[in-house]
Amino acid sequence: MPVITTIQDLKRLHKRRTPKMFYDYAESGSWTEQTFRENTSDFDQIRIRQRVAVDMANRSTASQMIGQDVAMPVGLAPVGLTGMQRADGEIKAAKAAEKFGVPFTLSTMSICSIEDVAANTNKPFWFQVYTLKDDDFMKRLFARAKDAKCSAIMITLDLQLLGQRHKDLKNGLTAPPKFTAATVANLATKWTWGLEMLQTKRRFFGNIVGHAKGVKDPSSLGSWTNESFDQSLDWDRVAELRKWWDGPVILKGILDVEDAKKAVNVGADAIIVSNHGGRQLDGALSSIRVLEQIVDAVGDKVEVHFDSGIRSGQDVMKALALGAKGTYIGRAFVNGLGAMGEAGVTKALEVIHKELDLTMGLAGRTDVRDLDRDILLVPKGFAGEWA
Ligand code: GLV
Repeated sequence: MPVITTIQDLKRLHKRRTPKMFYDYAESGSWTEQTFRENTSDFDQIRIRQRVAVDMANRSTASQMIGQDVAMPVGLAPVGLTGMQRADGEIKAAKAAEKFGVPFTLSTMSICSIEDVAANTNKPFWFQVYTLKDDDFMKRLFARAKDAKCSAIMITLDLQLLGQRHKDLKNGLTAPPKFTAATVANLATKWTWGLEMLQTKRRFFGNIVGHAKGVKDPSSLGSWTNESFDQSLDWDRVAELRKWWDGPVILKGILDVEDAKKAVNVGADAIIVSNHGGRQLDGALSSIRVLEQIVDAVGDKVEVHFDSGIRSGQDVMKALALGAKGTYIGRAFVNGLGAMGEAGVTKALEVIHKELDLTMGLAGRTDVRDLDRDILLVPKGFAGEWA
């Protein structure tokens, strides 16, 4: 067993242990993957000021996200198909997050259902919804989330249309899957994955099959997804959806100052500066490049969160220093899950926590809530030279 000290170590194991079609689903972006790549490479352009002879003996990473206590401001992002990376993946990830003291967000496109995750965890988790045309189904999703005692709703705004991901199409990862000979041959080599999958009943989209009109079995899911996303979504509809939830609402997928202001106007409690991990509009700016201007524009009116590109605790620290009050990891925890199940998600959180804690100390800071721009060296024009 290799010694695991980084998210990259988990990613290598994830690749080895998981069927290619699911690994590729997680580790890809849309079209040329430019935005996907820049989400991480732009983080590397930001440097950190080394400070010395500062008392860094007592450090704390504890904070709050939407008023809820967190051991560090790093939540697990909603990731579709998590339960195909490893059997019962959402339950395993939710348990790891709960034990660590960070929020877990369940995707609508999860394999384990809202009820399944609630039955297997003790603390409230957050639930993510897409904007769908079917009002009845959406209302029932909100009601199910309420019954499951979810403590926030996250509405994804950047997926009215699905960005094209070449690898998924080539691997036959459509809904339902179209297995090619190569896919089947590859599945057959992943023994642990396969044995665990055979032992669970959770192999389809648990929030959808049997709940949405016209989706009785997995084979009808393809037509449902194509038809059900609301391409005509507008801010009036977002304002209406916000009122459906009597509690914190987080709007995900904001990458533009104008949209951030609109999100404030409809009463968002938090927004997530995000380009969906580079999976939607290829050619969009990286999330970290636009973070500061969005914080400057609306940071005093709404809690600004951040995702897309975080692979280390250093990245978390950079996003917090640029004004984010919370961050999310997606691929980084999925790498852990695919590598080692629940223990791997815990490992991913431990890796990131340790990196955050040590880096903060070496930068001369002791409290994650007090991080600011002063600890960073950001190239001139990083945030503002695009017109
Ligand atoms: C779903 O949100 C995806 O990015 O695949």
